[in-house]
Amino acid sequence: MLDDIPAAMRSRMAELEALDRAQRAGAAPPARWLRTVDREAGRLITVLAGCAPRAGTFVELGTGSGYSTLWLLLALRERAPRPRLVTIERDADKASLARVTFERCAVTELVEQRVGDAASELRTLGPLAFAFMDHGPSNYEACRDGLVTALVPGGLLAVDNVDSHRRLAARFMRRLAADPRVETCVLHVGKGILLARRRR
Ligand SMILES: C[S@@+](CC[C@H](N)C(=O)[O-])C[C@H]1O[C@@H](n2cnc3c(N)ncnc32)[C@H](O)[C@@H]1O
Repeated sequence: MLDDIPAAMRSRMAELEALDRAQRAGAAPPARWLRTVDREAGRLITVLAGCAPRAGTFVELGTGSGYSTLWLLLALRERAPRPRLVTIERDADKASLARVTFERCAVTELVEQRVGDAASELRTLGPLAFAFMDHGPSNYEACRDGLVTALVPGGLLAVDNVDSHRRLAARFMRRLAADPRVETCVLHVGKGILLARRRR
């Protein structure tokens, strides 16, 4: 999965990492930042997605530039039959940028892109094998119950930014940890990833 990243993906990942760094250094106002996951967090979600059950859809909330979607695709391309991957982004400009990412990497047909609000789109997806939540900690709580309900037994939910935005994510984390349908832990990788697994 991680040892043979196609050249087009490697090159697009490097380009987006450089753009993210430049924006944070002052090249763009914070509202326009891509806010890509850290590289090590990208590697982690690839491995986690590779551990998800066979049955069910894979979903990403917060496509951004498509950077994290590329990491998820590395896990999916090894599976047969290949699971459905849906990625949801509210901002039309970011969704266009992600479309360019997918075209450049020749993976457009492997990703179902949705432009809209994550909480509303989620209701249309059916059972989930894997979910990656990265659409801003203040939006997590609105999706929590819907996601846990949709996860198949053994299904995984990975959530970014729980260390970097501890206060904003606190209520969501407390409620998720108290949900008897899942078991949870926090991985201090990148900006902090909370992992929940649906009990069988
Ligand atoms: C941290 S960025 C995503 C970065 C991306 N996962 C990556 O690593 O490349 C968060 C994204 O979530 C989007 N977003 C914010 N609120 C949303 C919502 N309610 N529904 C869908 N997307 C949302 C933002 O527009 C932004 O592009």
